[in-house]
Amino acid sequence: MPTWIVHGGKKLKGKLKVQGAKNAVLPIMAACILGGGTSRLTNCPELSDKNASIDILRHLGCKVKCCNNEIVIDSNDVCKSYIPHELMLKMRSSVMYMGAILARTGEVRLSKPGGCELGSRPIDLHLKALKALGAEISEEGGEVYCRAKKLRGANIHLDFPSVGATENAMLASCAAEGETVICNAACEPEIVDLQNFLRLKGVKVSGAGSSIVKISGFAPKEFTFHRIMPDRIAASTYLCAAASCGGEIILEDVVPNHFYTVITSLRAMGCDIMCGSNYVRIKSSGRLKVGRPIVTKPYPGFPTDSQALMMASCLKAEGTSVFVENIFENRFRHVPEMRRLGADIRTEGRVAIVTGVKELSGAPVSACDLRGGAALVLSGLISEGETRVYDVGHIERGYERFEFALSSLGADIKRQ
Ligand code: EPZ
Repeated sequence: MPTWIVHGGKKLKGKLKVQGAKNAVLPIMAACILGGGTSRLTNCPELSDKNASIDILRHLGCKVKCCNNEIVIDSNDVCKSYIPHELMLKMRSSVMYMGAILARTGEVRLSKPGGCELGSRPIDLHLKALKALGAEISEEGGEVYCRAKKLRGANIHLDFPSVGATENAMLASCAAEGETVICNAACEPEIVDLQNFLRLKGVKVSGAGSSIVKISGFAPKEFTFHRIMPDRIAASTYLCAAASCGGEIILEDVVPNHFYTVITSLRAMGCDIMCGSNYVRIKSSGRLKVGRPIVTKPYPGFPTDSQALMMASCLKAEGTSVFVENIFENRFRHVPEMRRLGADIRTEGRVAIVTGVKELSGAPVSACDLRGGAALVLSGLISEGETRVYDVGHIERGYERFEFALSSLGADIKRQ
């Protein structure tokens, strides 16, 4: 896997158009197989996860054209209902194809996505939702098989507001007879973007963004056009970089409200942040002081995906910061790597205590997962000397041209 060489100490300056949202384009690509027709998606980020999703669509029988940040998907000839293990291995969130394939073909078989760097990542809530809609489910040889002669609308209650389970339930219920009500649905903005796309495809759906989502019918449209929403976690990443490096940057094509918890946390640490309708401007001296505890929660709480990024901003802040990771059981894997740079972090279960240090010194570090890897790059930007970041493939799953985006803002980062 390629390596990035980072030399710390540079302030950031300039403007950056933030990429389209990884966690919106992936479920929307799965939704393209519903009801056939052609879908044109713009503002799609160039990511390895997106490419893995294109491989799945082509395997299922779709014709997919991809050019720059645009994807055109013709799903009239979908003919398969099985995702082979090697395609599932490339991207664990392929599990969100389950609901769409079941709705389109009446059955679906895929290998159970393993756990990942963040924890066991069970899919019990996904399966419970599909069962409520009338699917018969069996598991053998590490594979899940769902079949439904007829999907029927149901009241689905999610024990936890799982993003993926909400998306799978929404996609499967598009083919159900009668109304489906999903209670305790995830409220993330990416669910709203999926609802917006489904409406354009002819689905009667409402309530996304709240904990009650209703789906009650589908009159497929031949052609659908949709612009993917901006990536709130990528935006938060560049904000955290500017906060700790110091300087002044403007992020364009963002929805400030989508990452307001990150904005308010950085303001509490001493950053001057101004929000416009579709841009955010941050000014920072680079000398931060500890703000309020960072406690991750389902949206609209502080996003788990921004926990590691905020931690990088706190490594040299004045005072002691407290982090509580409530969503995933193993989302502090970046901590030992940050310690290699001289960070003072103690962890106990789901709690991390970060005591700001005066200096960090560059060292070789390895990315263990997507957001933790990005946080290591941010940590290298505020470390003296050279930091070599290995296994950057994890980071390229979710960030479009990350090293170029940062170097366009003045960071000293090069691919080796
Ligand atoms: C989505 O993952 C995102 N991925 C994640 O982003 C994000 O961290 C997560 O939502 C939470 O916001 C995509 O959208 C592709 P969940 P997902 O189901 O759907 C437990 C990134 O960095 N759970 O909301 O898998 C689960 O174990 C990625 O961009 C069950 O117990 O998240 C976890 O503890 C990482 N049973 C919690 O719920 C289930 O059936 C949240 O998971 C499903 C989930």
